[in-house]
Amino acid sequence: MNIDILLGLQWGDEGKGKIVDVLTPDYDIVARFQGGPNAGHTIEFHGEKHVLHLIPSGIFHGDKINVIGNGLVVDPVVFRNEVESLGIGTATVRKRLLLSLKAHLIMPTHKLLDAAHEASLGDARIGSTLRGIGPAYTDKASRNGIRIGDLFRKDFRDFYHSRVSEHMRLLQGYGYSGEMKDLEDEWFEAVEYMKQFTTVNADYYIETALRNGRRVLAEGAQGTMLDIDFGTYPFVTSSSTVAAGACTGLGVAPGRTGEVFGIFKAYCTRVGSGPFPTELEDANGQMMRDRGNEYGATTGRPRRCGWLDLPALKYAIMINGVTRLFMMKADVLSGFSEIKICKSYTTGGREQTELPYCLYEIEGLNYVTFKGWHSDITGCRSWDELPPELKDYIAYIERETGIPITIVSVGPDRSATINR
Ligand code: GDP
Ligand code: IMO
Ligand code: MG
Repeated sequence: MNIDILLGLQWGDEGKGKIVDVLTPDYDIVARFQGGPNAGHTIEFHGEKHVLHLIPSGIFHGDKINVIGNGLVVDPVVFRNEVESLGIGTATVRKRLLLSLKAHLIMPTHKLLDAAHEASLGDARIGSTLRGIGPAYTDKASRNGIRIGDLFRKDFRDFYHSRVSEHMRLLQGYGYSGEMKDLEDEWFEAVEYMKQFTTVNADYYIETALRNGRRVLAEGAQGTMLDIDFGTYPFVTSSSTVAAGACTGLGVAPGRTGEVFGIFKAYCTRVGSGPFPTELEDANGQMMRDRGNEYGATTGRPRRCGWLDLPALKYAIMINGVTRLFMMKADVLSGFSEIKICKSYTTGGREQTELPYCLYEIEGLNYVTFKGWHSDITGCRSWDELPPELKDYIAYIERETGIPITIVSVGPDRSATINR
C-alpha cells in the first residue's frame, strides 16, 4: 500500500480536521507529520465540537491508530491538557495513540523565546501563535533539541538543563528576568504523564503497516502558503507543510506516496501577518468572517478574509502534486450577490499567473466574477441539490486547475459533506 496525504493549500484552517475525521473510516492509521500546538483542527459531530492541536484527527474512531510523527514539535503540557479534554478517557487515548521517539519537545523556554522574539520584531512580527514553534524547530536544526526518546534517559534532568542554559542566555539578552520554577514543575509533571503513552519507531511502524496492506492517511497542519520554503517567507511557520514534508515527517519514502488530497476554502483566509493579495478589508470580508465564523481555533484571533486566489492555489497544487481537491465552506458564500476569483496578478505592468518571489510585488489583481446564489445549502447532502451557480463556480476551478473537486463541504458537521 501507499500512504495518502491530506494537506492545506492556503494559509491554514482550510478544514483539515473535519475532513480527516470524515475519511478516517477508510483508513487504519492516521499520522500527523509536522507542526505542533500552533495547529487547531476542529471536528464536529453529534452536536459537539472538539479542537485538536497535537493529536491526529482520527482519534474519535474506535478501531484506528493515530501516530504523532517525528516531524512534530510536542509540548507535553498541551498534550496532557488535550488528552484530558477529549472526553474519551486517558486509557482509551493510550490504546489509540502512538508517539514517535524522534518527535521533538517544546520546552517552557521555547514559548518564552517565541514571545520575546515576536515582541522584539515590533510591527514586523510574524503573528506567531506563541506556542514555541519557531524556537523548537530552531533547536532541532541547530542540534540543541530534546526528543521524546530522550525522556527515558537516566540523566534526563541534566540533559534538559544543558539545553536550557543556552535559552536562558538568549532570554537574558531579551531582558527576560521571570521565574522558571512553576513553568518547569508543570512541564516535568506533564513529561511523566506523557511517558505513560506508547512510544515507537514510527518510521518502521508505518513501513510495516504499509507492507501488511494497512491503509495510512498522513495529516498535515498549517497550509502550503505557510510552508518554510514555499510559503510567504518570512511570514510562515517553521516546518515543511507540503507533501514532501509527509515523507520527512514520518519517514516514508517518496515512492511510497499515493493520493494527495488538497484542501481549500471556497475563499481565502489568513491569521497573522504577511502578504495576502486578495484580502478584503470591506463589508464582503466582514460578511465572510461573520458567516464563516472566521476566528482562530488556537488563538481566537479574527482571520483575515478574501476571495479565492487561483494563482496561489495552482502553485500549491503544483508543489504538492495534488491528485484530488476538496472544497470547504462553500455554504459561507451563500448570500453574496457576486463572487469573485482572482485569476491572475499584474506585476511589472504585465498580467502574470505565476506567484512572484515576493507577493508584495503584486501591483494589481484580475478577477473573474460569478453570479451568487441565495439558498441555504447547509442541508444539501448530494451534488444534485447544489445550486447551479455553485456548480458553475466549481466547474471553473476544476477547469483552471485540471484537478477534480471530489468533496464539497457545506457545514462544520461531519455529515455536512458531499462526496461526488
Ligand atoms: P483546520 O485547521 O484546517 O483543521 O481548520 P480549522 O478547524 O482551524 O478551521 C476550520 C473551521 O471551519 C472550523 O471551525 C470548522 O468547524 C469549520 N468548518 C469546516 N468545514 C466547514 C464547512 O464546510 N462550512 C462551515 N461553515 N464551516 C466549516
Ligand atoms: P492549522 O493546522 C493558520 C500561522 C500563525 C503565524 C505563522 C507562524 O490549524 O491550519 P507559528 O506559531 O507557527 O510560528 O506562527 O503561522 N499559523 C497558522 N495559521 N492555521 C494554522 O494551523 C497555523 N499555524 C500557524 O498565525 O502567522
Ligand atoms: Mg486550524
